Amino acid sequence: MSSVQKLAAAGEAGGQSLPDVSRPLLEVRDLTVSFNAPHGLVKAVNGVSFSVSPRERVGIVGESGSGKSVTAQALLGLLPTATVTGQILFDGRDILSMPKSDLRALRGWDISYIFQDPLSALDPVRTIGDQISQPLRLRGVHQKEAKTRAIQMLAKVGIREPARRYKDYPHQFSGGMRQRVMIAMALIGEPRLVIADEPTTALDVRVQAQVIDLLYSLTEEQGTAVVFITHDLGILAGFADRMMVMYAGRVMEAAETDELYYRSINPYTLGLLQSLPRIDGPIPLTLTAIGGRPPSPSNLPGGCSFHPRCRYAQDICTAERPPLETPENGTHPSACHFANWLTEEPGVLR
Ligand SMILES: Nc1ncnc2c1ncn2[C@@H]1O[C@H](COP(=O)(O)OP(=O)(O)OP(=O)(O)O)[C@@H](O)[C@H]1O
Ligand SMILES: [Mg+2]
Repeated sequence: MSSVQKLAAAGEAGGQSLPDVSRPLLEVRDLTVSFNAPHGLVKAVNGVSFSVSPRERVGIVGESGSGKSVTAQALLGLLPTATVTGQILFDGRDILSMPKSDLRALRGWDISYIFQDPLSALDPVRTIGDQISQPLRLRGVHQKEAKTRAIQMLAKVGIREPARRYKDYPHQFSGGMRQRVMIAMALIGEPRLVIADEPTTALDVRVQAQVIDLLYSLTEEQGTAVVFITHDLGILAGFADRMMVMYAGRVMEAAETDELYYRSINPYTLGLLQSLPRIDGPIPLTLTAIGGRPPSPSNLPGGCSFHPRCRYAQDICTAERPPLETPENGTHPSACHFANWLTEEPGVLR
């Protein structure tokens, strides 16, 4: 029993109500999301389960269309036109069956979202200061206090002359600065979970690294859990504690970050890893180690969804969908019929 579990057990025995810190902050069970589109049923998410502990940073990785954003939007109850099934528990409360007013409160207080494109997320006709201080004012913090804290937060995210820039409008900020403002807005209310959906994709590589470092240090300081969504496995190396690789709306592999980088047991993850440019090797002629394109979610192939693009596919891969399982001698789950073999022969596909 960990010290945290012991503490919780002692609290229960003594009749005190200590917060249950051993429970995951977020627990997603068998989530499915589908849309009724004119061209047929779009199965965007097909049975995704994962959890995020308090203070933990989890990366969700996958190519375009793999269902990352739809998963994130489902977590916040932002999909009114979709059919969503499964369970999404935040601190033990089911988001999918929660009254709308509770959900709004949760989004305002406990969970915040950092969007890919800050320009469309920021209101162009309101000052930066007005927008950053809003979460505090909504909680009844006095205007003067909210302004002081917003200016402090602007300074924290690296905006120079924050008191002056407080009065500026979004168009007066560069792309990197606007993304810093989004981080300030997301964190000023000290939420328990931040969901960042490709927050750095629009930025150049140097600014991208700075913004990720910033998000790391601020969430570390505040003890905030993070779900970080990206199509780029490389940028999560120093950031995420754990990673989940998605393909065609399913989890292909989930592991601690180092495990996934060095001991992946899934051909799709291995393909993504091989697509990464390396500083310790020759420059690859092509960055595309995986041929073809992901399938359309309205026409998913039978068996393993990845089989049409997998160099190692066998008959069983076209016939049966592999469950997400930890192989006998493995350390983490992979949805591949040959995960066991890959565990025995690490690096065989590299
Ligand atoms: N409102 C909707 N109606 C119909 N289909 C949708 C809707 N929203 C998303 N989809 C489809 O669901 C699939 C998953 O989309 P999603 O946005 O989650 O992908 P993603 O992994 O975030 O990709 P990207 O890296 O491009 O952001 C896509 O095929 C997308 O076209
Ligand atoms: Mg997306």
